[in-house]
Amino acid sequence: MASKDVMILTGAGQIGMAIARRVGYGKKIFVGDKRLENARAVARTMNDAGFDVTPLEMDLSSRASIRSFIAAAQNAGEISILVNAVGVSPSQASIETILKVDLYGTAALLEEVGNVIAPGGVGVTISSQSGHRMPQLTAEEDALLACTPAEALLTLDILQPGRIRDTLHAYQMAKRCNEKRVMAEAVRWGKRGARINSISPGIIVTPLAIDEFNGPRGDFYKNMFANCPAGRPGTADEVANVAELLLGEKGAFITGADFLIDGGATASYFYGPLKP
Ligand SMILES: NC(=O)c1ccc[n+]([C@@H]2O[C@H](COP(=O)([O-])OP(=O)(O)OC[C@H]3O[C@@H](n4cnc5c(N)ncnc54)[C@H](O)[C@@H]3O)[C@@H](O)[C@H]2O)c1
Repeated sequence: MASKDVMILTGAGQIGMAIARRVGYGKKIFVGDKRLENARAVARTMNDAGFDVTPLEMDLSSRASIRSFIAAAQNAGEISILVNAVGVSPSQASIETILKVDLYGTAALLEEVGNVIAPGGVGVTISSQSGHRMPQLTAEEDALLACTPAEALLTLDILQPGRIRDTLHAYQMAKRCNEKRVMAEAVRWGKRGARINSISPGIIVTPLAIDEFNGPRGDFYKNMFANCPAGRPGTADEVANVAELLLGEKGAFITGADFLIDGGATASYFYGPLKP
């Protein structure tokens, strides 16, 4: 039997699993998560449904851990699909952890996978509407977030403790950085004939969002989905609809782009009832 295409999924949460189920049939899938039990749970659910998934422990905030995860996957063949759905939210983690995982970790992963992705390969990383909410940064700040080598990102002035107000601000900066990294990486990945995009979801019901509903900003979040044009939170399967386009043949002309899928919450935040 010919060897299967290899797909790596980082982040064994609801969004990651929904995307893996949508595009991962017939592929060899490696799922990495800091919480091995989460990776195992996703592998069990998917293997019981006919997929071929191997769970591994992986910490996105560590380049060494990213490298060993990639190396393990490469034993099965060249990696042709990346889905990154790791994330910690403002109610789950400290400023430092959010910057290390969501900002630095994503950047390091895109660098590492960009070095080895198969010709014609494709990737998607999950950013957030939060990156669209914050005020514009200067062109120079955007360029620093886009192009600073990942190892130096956390030394940037704009990311120092005095400049980051709280965990929400850290999350917004991380997600803005994800979108900018994807643009810069798309240029590099393109040299290998590969594509990379990001998806910025609004409120999607997952354990991460449920922590937010029950956290200090719970009322803010509930108001957000009640007053967005869609009038409800979204589901991971709806995020997978966008991922399916981006990762498939019909998305062949899309790279370096970010797709907002938030039920119109950001539109309402700027020009409707959610305006602060
Ligand atoms: N759920 C939402 O409303 C929402 C909205 C916008 C963006 N997002 C983003 O979507 C992505 C997926 O979130 P989700 O809602 O599916 O969350 P989830 O909590 O279901 O999954 C996130 C997974 O990431 C893992 N993780 C955390 N830190 C890690 C680390 N250092 N290394 C490896 N794994 C780690 C967790 O163990 C968990 O399994 C995140 O980037 C999140 O910021 C979520």
